[in-house]
Amino acid sequence: MKILVTGGAGFIGGNFVHHMVNKHSDYEIVNLDLLTYAGNLETLKPVEDKPNYKFVKGDIADETFIMKLFADEKFDMVVNFAAESHVDRSISDPGIFVQTNVLGTVTLLNACRKYGITRYHQVSTDEVYGDLPLDRPDLFFTEETPLHTSSPYSSSKASADLFVMSYFRTFGLPVTISRCSNNYGPYHFPEKLIPLMISRALGDEELPVYGNGENVRDWLHVYDHCTAIDLILHKGKVGEVYNVGGHNERTNLEVVKTILQALNKPESLIRYVTDRPGHDMRYAIDPTKLETELGWKPKYTFDTGIPQTIEWYLENRDWWENILNGSYQEYFDTMYGTRL
Ligand code: NAD
Ligand code: DAU
Repeated sequence: MKILVTGGAGFIGGNFVHHMVNKHSDYEIVNLDLLTYAGNLETLKPVEDKPNYKFVKGDIADETFIMKLFADEKFDMVVNFAAESHVDRSISDPGIFVQTNVLGTVTLLNACRKYGITRYHQVSTDEVYGDLPLDRPDLFFTEETPLHTSSPYSSSKASADLFVMSYFRTFGLPVTISRCSNNYGPYHFPEKLIPLMISRALGDEELPVYGNGENVRDWLHVYDHCTAIDLILHKGKVGEVYNVGGHNERTNLEVVKTILQALNKPESLIRYVTDRPGHDMRYAIDPTKLETELGWKPKYTFDTGIPQTIEWYLENRDWWENILNGSYQEYFDTMYGTRL
């Protein structure tokens, strides 16, 4: 079994490569990544010498390159993580989100059609469903919830999902889609809420909370997302969408305070800043289909996953300090300069 994993130098793709290389030693895992600002080969250090692992640098939207790669490698399955993934960046510069997330996905689908695969899996997001109101805690996203996007990021992901489903219906391509809630855990790029707050709190720097901090996210440890995708690849039904989440809703303020408490840092570090335009209020996944049809169960709750994650950031300072010392500083100044 030869599996192409795209975006495997990023946060979730990197964790997935670790999981697959170690758990399925008889599979060949080919990691294709463009190494954008979010891609980091340091993340792959623990697996880079394994005989069943190979890295290839390239762009999922480069048709000539992708067609040649598929012709040479003859993949059995494709798992597409590669994407521009940060909502704030999509507000500053939507174009690259269309290029990578939409055109890149269609390029991969065309290659799958031409060369044949047994499964194409699209790693999507709960953000395609839009948001839920804070005063209706009884409401959750199911696989039947209509797509209703807010940001250029989520619009590009929803568009990709529609193409994936159209290739199933029109061309009979064996596809599956997973839509997961917010992930956290090792190797998370420090522009996202949890690693940003951990790294800044450790440096006694101000913690920028958008708006009033009451927005709710449904947090899942990245390990549990990886086991869900592994399960869907092996047991999921083609043409189906599976929501992934573990019922761990927290307001942003609760998350930030939990981190401050764990690091023994004062709440006075919190700084309320201008809100994100179009900021989604609440995400909450109903994972019943994945649990009942495929038997998935998460290993972590938020209360067990957060200490493990903080511990990882304390023990792997080099990994994130190298990022913070690079071009990231320029991004931070542009994104937060007028807010902080
Ligand atoms: P990330 O930004 O950490 O990593 C993305 C990776 O894709 C990087 O390694 C980058 O170099 C690579 N990449 C970007 N453009 C590329 C291109 N054109 N060709 C090849 N590689 C390219 O993202 P992440 O947080 O790991 O998210 C991975 C996937 O999971 C994305 O599709 C995202 O939409 C989805 N997702 C993320 C979350 C989350 O909480 N982070 C939740 C649900 C779904
Ligand atoms: O729900 C899944 C999605 O989760 C994924 O599809 C995206 O790829 C991923 O980036 C994530 O999107 P969010 O926008 O929810 O994640 P982010 O970490 O950017 O923000 C989480 C919440 O924290 C959100 O309500 C905005 C808020 N926030 C974020 C940052 C970076 C702040 O208050 N301050 C900040 O500095």
